[in-house]
Amino acid sequence: MDTILELRGVTKRFGSLVANREIDLTVKKGTIHAVVGENGAGKSTLMNIISGVHRLDDGEIFLEGKPVNFRSPTEASKAGIGMVHQEFMLFPELTILDNIMMGYERTGKLGLLDRRQVRAEVEELLRTYNFNIPLDELAREQPVAMLQQIEIVKILYRGANILIFDEPTSVLTPAGVEGLFRAMRFLVSKGKTILFITHKLKEVLQVADEITVLKEGAVVGHTTPAETSEEQMASMMVGRNVMLKANKLKKDRGRPILQVTDLQARNDNGIVKLKHVNLTVHAGEIVGIAGVAGSGQVELVQCLYGLRAPESGAILLDGDDITRASCREHRCKGIGLVPQDRMADGCNRAAPIWENCIMGYHIAHGFRSKWLIDRGEAETFAQRVVDEFSVKASSLNEPISSLSGGNVQKAIVGREFLQENKLLIMEDPTRGIDIGAIEFIWKKIEELAASGVAVLLVSQELNEVMEVSDRIEVIYDGQLYDGGLHGELTEAQIGLLMTGGVEDAAEK
Ligand SMILES: Nc1ncnc2c1ncn2[C@@H]1O[C@H](COP(=O)(O)OP(=O)(O)OP(=O)(O)O)[C@@H](O)[C@H]1O
Ligand SMILES: [Mg+2]
Repeated sequence: MDTILELRGVTKRFGSLVANREIDLTVKKGTIHAVVGENGAGKSTLMNIISGVHRLDDGEIFLEGKPVNFRSPTEASKAGIGMVHQEFMLFPELTILDNIMMGYERTGKLGLLDRRQVRAEVEELLRTYNFNIPLDELAREQPVAMLQQIEIVKILYRGANILIFDEPTSVLTPAGVEGLFRAMRFLVSKGKTILFITHKLKEVLQVADEITVLKEGAVVGHTTPAETSEEQMASMMVGRNVMLKANKLKKDRGRPILQVTDLQARNDNGIVKLKHVNLTVHAGEIVGIAGVAGSGQVELVQCLYGLRAPESGAILLDGDDITRASCREHRCKGIGLVPQDRMADGCNRAAPIWENCIMGYHIAHGFRSKWLIDRGEAETFAQRVVDEFSVKASSLNEPISSLSGGNVQKAIVGREFLQENKLLIMEDPTRGIDIGAIEFIWKKIEELAASGVAVLLVSQELNEVMEVSDRIEVIYDGQLYDGGLHGELTEAQIGLLMTGGVEDAAEK
């Protein structure tokens, strides 16, 4: 098979930090090449170099045998390289068609935009690659899986032959992942080449042709699904064996901390998303909520955190009525939240790491001075977050957006875990986190609960809910169903509840 892309000795530094160290990589045409490695191993940086976002410091890149040195993403795009980034880059208020042609408008006679021509070309692409996309709808109305397809079509429209996907599956439901993999295989069958980054090693075995493993900026292994296993890849990445089992501690279940009765709520479009929800989480207890995305999880968390007013029902925190309390009051009363979308809701991407590490803490727990934030005190707390949660950061003063995706997540999780909360609500806390760090965060959740905190874990990863929770609730169509105590039901039984497959399941 022909080599389409070859990297020799590629090195990239950010200040004193070496993000990529003498990387050699050979990518064959018409294959899916997976790149795996821990958070901060240098995967996104390498992809950013290939796609012209960053410039390399040393080394060479050959595209179809010819040396290239892209100075911008536009140059890389002209050469046929396109990237779908970890965080999507669409304009919510524009139509899908406008998003696809944005920055790449074709003009007709007199230099006027030829929309008919653009539409015809895009429609042809959709037909060729089997995408079903409503071109005239607004981007903001689309579910995540659709946004991703739009990003793919966008780079195909720009003529990409090499498509780079940076953690495309971390935002998708299992059905979305299946759809993406079908699209990836189809693209490859049509001669495209794909570079694919993921933390889910099962997916690598399922879809990749070749695998490159990075560790601390360098290549530490090259293999194929036929030659390796999840365990082997994990130990290559992390440098030790990873079991990915939660080590359950013995905990004393205390008084009820969170008590939700008969909660009913609608979404922004007026559709009822929570129907008579009853839920109790005790001190020292981890309650997991399993469910297919869109079953009401989002609205439940919003109600619990004062981000959405319920229609009826009551929410008590340690006996206090917080049904209509504001977000700020929630914080002050001792509720922590790890939100699902780390970039939109979890941090201020332009603010330095230290500020992001004290957000919320400065309101609820305060510093010595009531009026001014004591920088020293703030940095001490921020340093604790960084140290205890192994956030790979060169300086607390850098903007948080300079951290790798998984390290941003670790900083947010650390910030919420280290505050003295009565209740911690977590949505997909291990999204985009490497396998070693997942093990670590599961251990922290267990320790937090053992110290008497009530934990509500909402996760799309069924495996995570089943491993970590002391008790499971399944959400389906806005209602909760009893998913039993830890280990009581099988994955298949819970899966059935998640799809509403059990008629006589005890509705609560
Ligand atoms: N613009 C930047 N400025 C400074 N440092 C950066 C910048 N971009 C990346 N880094 C650093 O380079 C290292 C590699 O980051 P990179 O984003 O490539 O990791 P990654 O393998 O993609 O990790 P993850 O799995 O968490 O996404 C990290 O230590 C990160 O903090
Ligand atoms: Mg990354």
